[in-house]
Amino acid sequence: MTLFRLDASIRSDGSHSRQVADLVEQEWRAVHPDGGVVRRDVGTAPLPSDAWAAAVSAAQVSPEERTPAQVRAAALATLLADELIGADALLFAVPLYNYGVSQHFKGWVDLVATEPRMSPGREPALAGKPAVLVTVRGGAYGPGTPREGWDHATPWMRRILADLWQLDLRVVEAELTLVGVNPALDELRDLAARKRREAEDLARAHGRELASRRVAA
Ligand SMILES: Cc1cc2nc3c(=O)[nH]c(=O)nc-3n(C[C@H](O)[C@H](O)[C@H](O)COP(=O)(O)O)c2cc1C
Repeated sequence: MTLFRLDASIRSDGSHSRQVADLVEQEWRAVHPDGGVVRRDVGTAPLPSDAWAAAVSAAQVSPEERTPAQVRAAALATLLADELIGADALLFAVPLYNYGVSQHFKGWVDLVATEPRMSPGREPALAGKPAVLVTVRGGAYGPGTPREGWDHATPWMRRILADLWQLDLRVVEAELTLVGVNPALDELRDLAARKRREAEDLARAHGRELASRRVAA
């Protein structure tokens, strides 16, 4: 059994998305101690920023006409698609940045989508595959909060992962991770602690389920 894990936090130390995703991974490992984990860290080891354009243009010429850059980009897209298609379960850990999706995660999705097996309009190669998305935000975005509706990342990620790729997706959302960092949020300490406990409980539950779910026939 193989777990594919993608991290998009731009930091390693103190990363909430990595910590919460670690709980999902631990539960999966507990069920599959001999399983392998394939890691793709687009946050600290970003993909080449010119790969996407080269992969798009590579698809418009015959393989023998491709430039070296197009050959490299197409090969990278194939590797990324192989990582996804070859895994039994998928785990994504992606923070909110500037009210939008992480540029590194977006770039990864864009490059994956250039691969013929993953291109939109084709029968989804990942349909029914179990997956967990862990997403974390510094602030709060729930109903009635000043920034309600400002998280433009989570709906887009759900659209790609659940609707387009047709993954069997569960989502863990952790909020208020900037409490303790931004003094203006100090009065929200208790709320932040409660939300963190809830996110960790949900991550463990989704991790156990991720380990037992199978691709729907
Ligand atoms: C450059 C940058 C932009 C951010 N933009 C937002 C934002 O728009 N909204 C928000 O709630 N938090 C924002 N944050 C806070 C992060 O979402 C938060 O620190 C989160 O925990 C980061 O993930 P990590 O802990 O896994 O590194 C931003 C953080 C950084 C570094």
